[in-house]
Amino acid sequence: MKSLKNLNFEKIQNVGIRVDFNVPIDKNFKITDKTRLDRAKDTINFIKNKQCNILLLSHFGRPKENFDDKYSFSKLIDQFQEILELKLNFISYANFLENGLDQFNYNRPTATLLENIRFFKGEIKNDLSFSKSITDNLDLYVNEAFSASHRLHSSVNQMAKNILSTPGFNFEKEINVINDIKKSQKKKLAIIGGSKISTKINTLLSLTTSCSDIFIGGAMANNFLKFNKFNVSSSLIEEGAERMIEMIYSSAKQTGCEIHLPVDVMLDSDQSVLVNELDKNTEFKILDIADSSHIVLENLVKKSDIILWNGPMGMIEDHKFSKGSINLSHLLAKAQADVVIGGGDTILAINMAKEKFEDFYFVSTAGGAFLEALEDKELPGIEALKADL
Ligand code: 3PG
Repeated sequence: MKSLKNLNFEKIQNVGIRVDFNVPIDKNFKITDKTRLDRAKDTINFIKNKQCNILLLSHFGRPKENFDDKYSFSKLIDQFQEILELKLNFISYANFLENGLDQFNYNRPTATLLENIRFFKGEIKNDLSFSKSITDNLDLYVNEAFSASHRLHSSVNQMAKNILSTPGFNFEKEINVINDIKKSQKKKLAIIGGSKISTKINTLLSLTTSCSDIFIGGAMANNFLKFNKFNVSSSLIEEGAERMIEMIYSSAKQTGCEIHLPVDVMLDSDQSVLVNELDKNTEFKILDIADSSHIVLENLVKKSDIILWNGPMGMIEDHKFSKGSINLSHLLAKAQADVVIGGGDTILAINMAKEKFEDFYFVSTAGGAFLEALEDKELPGIEALKADL
């Protein structure tokens, strides 16, 4: 894989940068977390300082139609310009269909943002001719969207294969940290929350082979509690989870990895209950972990050298049930171990706890890509950057 820092820019004028501006917004289209934009700044400024003509490409959401105003960058571009401190030209959906990248080619050197790349059919098909309609106008392709690198899409995979390509600075940091952690023989703890086992099953299986301990929290833990014959009443449960849980326990048994579950939980009635006393309650929903579970986490954190955290411990959207995740953020910010955090909701928990990213070993901007990178497989975005040109 080539490195952006070591490239000779003598013959490089037009540079495409795949960023991940898939940012969270509120109902008024106001960006609520600008981490992904901040993380792309070093790469954008480095290329800008080389006097290159910059084309920014990104997806936003998962639009089903060709064009949907709700997913258009036209509503966000002013905020992008402000956060990036960069003037951006905009190529709309209709303009690209009619004129391709003419506007990028005639306005230089400058920075241009193409409309949400998922509006174009060739993107999710990883289509060669669509990818060339972009890269034929470029001398260099930089992927600064690690968080999208698990998608076999044109701007993640094929475009990087067409021409000279490198990872961006943040992308490089993300893969280095994840690879170092995967290789490390130190004592590892994984804390995994969120709601769905099915989206994390492969990561969980892979973690059983590399971690000494795994703590399961969030709604995902309800399935494990039910599997272990605790009453979970009408708590959120995933259909067909038993088979996946069996696989996880069986793999953990073979490798000696210990699986830990909450020992007490918060119910929708705002009461904390020991899991072995759940039977005494009738109709309830489990919505967070409680204090004794936090003590279990404290003890696990003390004996670990490396800690991975993905997924909240409870329903953090409701502040009454965010305490488990907020307390965990405080605990990990103080921990001696190297703590690596990934996932949008996990970052939200850190922000709610008002902890600083600098207090952790690394905070990944990625959710799905972070989890998939922890498995033993090559992501399409990483594989493409290894193509030799
Ligand atoms: C993310 O937010 O995890 C990335 O931007 C990828 O988005 P996607 O899951 O819609 O591909």
